[in-house]
Amino acid sequence: MEQKVHLTKLASDTLLGLSSNPKYLLSKYFYDDAGSAIFQDIMNMPEYYLTDCEHEIFSSQKEEITHAICNDTLGFNLIELGSGDGMKTKILLKYLVGKPIHFQYTPVDISAKANSELIESLKLELPSLKVEAKTGDYFHKLKNLNGHASISKIVLFLGSNIGNFSNNETDAFFNQLSAFTNSGDKVLIGFDLKKSPKIIMDAYNDPHGHTRRFNLNHLVRLNRELGADFNIGQFEQHTIYDPKTGDVKSFLVSKAKQKVHLGTLEQDFNFRQWETIFMERSRKFDLSTIEKLADKSGFKVVQNFTDKRNYFVDSLWVKG
Ligand code: AVJ
Repeated sequence: MEQKVHLTKLASDTLLGLSSNPKYLLSKYFYDDAGSAIFQDIMNMPEYYLTDCEHEIFSSQKEEITHAICNDTLGFNLIELGSGDGMKTKILLKYLVGKPIHFQYTPVDISAKANSELIESLKLELPSLKVEAKTGDYFHKLKNLNGHASISKIVLFLGSNIGNFSNNETDAFFNQLSAFTNSGDKVLIGFDLKKSPKIIMDAYNDPHGHTRRFNLNHLVRLNRELGADFNIGQFEQHTIYDPKTGDVKSFLVSKAKQKVHLGTLEQDFNFRQWETIFMERSRKFDLSTIEKLADKSGFKVVQNFTDKRNYFVDSLWVKG
């Protein structure tokens, strides 16, 4: 029998997504080097309130947060999933480093470049901090991090990255987080809250064209890494928000009937005119849903840290 060439995860995930009906691509693949840089532009937009809110929470409540996460622990491993540029975490780290608290920082990110930039900046800004960075998919990395059961863990999952998951992925993630943690371990998770739809739409509906570039960059990546021939100008980006479910959904829409070839997959994909590719979910939560998610996976909500406007929450849970 003829052996099929081994496909990378990007190739097999893309094959699956573009063969499905309706078509989809996975949002974790947004973050190649160019995509990570475009996401920085998104975070810098005044309309993208999420980053500002979480920044406000961390800077104005760093004493309370620090006290709540490490009141009864002798030493701990501070693990951050999807650390990115570590902007908000650095506020906590700077505060923690000055205290007689024994800990190490373990940032986990899918972007090697984001990770190495974070390591370099920490060397300069916090030379005494012990850092052990990991590059990769955090679902996968969580499995390999389970070594030192005796050291307590504090897991950070900030920025409402959780909002990207489907309901099944959300359940799978919390089950994994539950298996990964021991009784008394804590997790601090950033959730974007439901609010006026107008405010949400302004953050995602692209006043500066960054969200459009962010989505189209995924196709540029497929052109480069999978030998695809997407004609970028033939796709339009569109975002919707459903205030009932709290789902922001982003799509690329094919402006014409077209055929796209993917060299690595040796396959053509046909697009009908106005056919969609589902690109990303950015789910908005309410506090009762957050409490249910915690209970379901064996955690208890200890404290919710919110910004002044109540747009965003960093929810601290303890493992039962
Ligand atoms: C990085 C997943 C939190 O969903 O708000 C921003 C990504 N997409 N604008 C989000 C994103 C479009 C972002 N997260």
